[in-house]
Amino acid sequence: MKSEPIPFILEAKEISFSYADNTRALDRISVSIPRGKKTAFIGPNGAGKTTLFLHFNGILKPNQGSICYEGQEVHYSHASLLNLRKNVGIVFQDPETQLFSASVQQEISFGPVNLGLPKEKIRERVNQAMAETGITGLKDKPTHFLSYGQKKRVAIADILAMQPKVLICDEPTAWLDVKYAAQIMELFDLINRTGVTIIFSTHDIDLAYSWADYIFLMKNGKIIGEGLPERIFYNRPLLAETELERPWLIDIYEELNRKGWVASNVPPRTRQELIGHIREKMS
Ligand SMILES: Nc1ncnc2c1ncn2[C@@H]1O[C@H](COP(=O)(O)OP(=O)(O)OP(=O)(O)O)[C@@H](O)[C@H]1O
Ligand SMILES: [Mg+2]
Repeated sequence: MKSEPIPFILEAKEISFSYADNTRALDRISVSIPRGKKTAFIGPNGAGKTTLFLHFNGILKPNQGSICYEGQEVHYSHASLLNLRKNVGIVFQDPETQLFSASVQQEISFGPVNLGLPKEKIRERVNQAMAETGITGLKDKPTHFLSYGQKKRVAIADILAMQPKVLICDEPTAWLDVKYAAQIMELFDLINRTGVTIIFSTHDIDLAYSWADYIFLMKNGKIIGEGLPERIFYNRPLLAETELERPWLIDIYEELNRKGWVASNVPPRTRQELIGHIREKMS
């Protein structure tokens, strides 16, 4: 009989981490990432989001506690790390720390080549990743001549070409213009629908509210809240503690609701849903 997969694909159990200068970046953090969902980490600068993400694919090793992938504890042996990194891909916050090859095409080929894939498969994956991120026209350009937003898109294509089971993206929309930011999130949606678990951090509260299935709130190396987006963003004391703004959709919806100008009692998650509620009331 086939056993049910565990509901959490990736877990951090009571992990703590201090950098070499003794900055305690993570303080006994426990998180369970729901399989197949889109999970957002939000919190102020220095909260520990990037540090936690670097633990998720074994770039950093916790001083205490453990990381589990598919219920198996990561042991930091060569084989254990290889398995983790094959399945958990991370797009760095700063693309300049991720890119190193000569041309865009070479850069994106690097991962699939390392996986030992046949030439034809490599070409296929690289072309697909470039098309999805809108960088096909840049394929022969050296990565160091790209604009920052273009570099970010190459960094995302880099990881897409690896076809990971978990895609971690540290600030996916930072530096991207509105068009590409929307395109990247649509792409992530598409990938998510194929079963890939998405984890991302963002300072864009509206994006987190509209897009995430589940949210973790971080501050000072700790998790200070977690839950469904509507629960997190309706919790004023919790938001105040992290000095985060509320999503504009919630403010507008509450105001319209007070005046009886919206039809539904279900808070809208997107601009389209809000417009739908108003139109329904007007009709
Ligand atoms: N290489 C490092 N050496 C020493 N301290 C570091 C290093 N990298 C990060 N830190 C510290 O660790 C803490 C957590 O930083 P981290 O980058 O994980 O936060 P973050 O939530 O990702 O912030 P941001 O929103 O600015 O990206 C901060 O206090 C930071 O100064
Ligand atoms: Mg960060």
